[in-house]
Amino acid sequence: MKFFLDTGNVEEIRRIVKLGLVDGVTTNPSLIAKEGRDFKQVIQEICGIVSGPVSAEVIGLEAEGMIREAHDIAQWAPNVVVKLPMTEAGLEATYQLAQEGIKTNVTLVFSVAQGLMAAKAGATYISPFVGRLDDIGVDGMALVKNLGLVLQQYGLRTEIIAASIRSIAHVELAALAGAHIATIPGSLLPTLWKHPLTDIGIARFLKDWESVPKT
Ligand code: E4P
Repeated sequence: MKFFLDTGNVEEIRRIVKLGLVDGVTTNPSLIAKEGRDFKQVIQEICGIVSGPVSAEVIGLEAEGMIREAHDIAQWAPNVVVKLPMTEAGLEATYQLAQEGIKTNVTLVFSVAQGLMAAKAGATYISPFVGRLDDIGVDGMALVKNLGLVLQQYGLRTEIIAASIRSIAHVELAALAGAHIATIPGSLLPTLWKHPLTDIGIARFLKDWESVPKT
């Protein structure tokens, strides 16, 4: 499973890139707003740090406007991916952009039907939102698993990004569910390599080492 960082924060990305763990980045308007910086500048800076796909989301609600924005965004960097909402207009834009060879990530996917529509329209990626489904009492990870089965069954090459990831368990379950990618908040990813028993183990080794005769 690939790891994307779900953040617009360049410092978080720089820190984790050093570990070889960043296969790509996803952003959304809320994450960009948190940074208080120019959208294009942030995306271009991220694209300069990460060689994998970097998703930048359109704001328009009509297909024509989305396609116009997408054409602009697609010029920003060679590895940029245009993120589009899962709506009728989003599907129209996805279909047209796919014909033009522009990569897309259809976001805000909450059902198998939506994911299947986006894949058929030619989306490069679809983003089922696991955490937001869990929030309303629906099993978000079941959606990831079911989407995987459906895409595989019909030979659709769209990749699944498990999104709205909130916990280490979400990351582990996304891998078990066969997600191609998990997009993980910059604050959560550093907790993935930690375990209390690792820290206790290191402390014990160091303590025991004190009794080893030193020459
Ligand atoms: C995905 O691309 C979205 O940016 C993100 O995962 C949304 O997560 P949230 O539900 O925690 O806002």
